Amino acid sequence: MFLPIQKVLKEAELKEIRDKLEGASFADGAATAGRQARRVKQNEQLPRDAPLTKELGKIVSAALRRNAMFISATLPVKMTEPMFNRYAGGMRYGSHVDNAVMYQPTALRTDISVTLFLSEPSEYDGGELLVDEVAVRQKIKLPAGSAIIYPSTSLHRVEPVTRGARLASIVWVQSLVRDTSQRKILFDLDRATQSLTKKDPDSAEVQLLSASYHNLLRLWAEA
Ligand code: NI
Repeated sequence: MFLPIQKVLKEAELKEIRDKLEGASFADGAATAGRQARRVKQNEQLPRDAPLTKELGKIVSAALRRNAMFISATLPVKMTEPMFNRYAGGMRYGSHVDNAVMYQPTALRTDISVTLFLSEPSEYDGGELLVDEVAVRQKIKLPAGSAIIYPSTSLHRVEPVTRGARLASIVWVQSLVRDTSQRKILFDLDRATQSLTKKDPDSAEVQLLSASYHNLLRLWAEA
């Protein structure tokens, strides 16, 4: 499933992250890429163990975890500590698939990739995230503070940044439900239930939809 999530970060959180990234020292991003990805990866990253990475990562993790749409769409069982990257001066990330397993802090299977945009689209040219999914290529450039989630199985790339700088935070999620199409069914059911609940919380339909949601989750969840 491919889903934009608006305003994950509050204004003050975005400002704090941007201010602290201003003078931060980024390192060559190729250091953390897999063998194929390393050949096409040109960007800069905050070192994984830098105190600033941990500090800002806590803000991003908390923002994702309190976001009801993110939780409903991803059903996280584990999430990586957020990484922070920067593209400028023609940097790009060619077509690749993310590593299937990450060790950050402990081993997790990457089911869902999350890109949280930290720069406004007006601040840079290029830098679109392109995701190949079901033969449709999606081109993504969201406002600062908004995120896109997409299946980690997708080939994707970041177009060259030809003006300004593109800052983003990256997270990977291991989901309770490994299969993308099963997650989509649960997400749709959850949204329908939430919407009906607002109109008539005690209806038999809400009870049946809710029961179906939980019983499908019980069938499909691997914790
Ligand atoms: Ni990637």
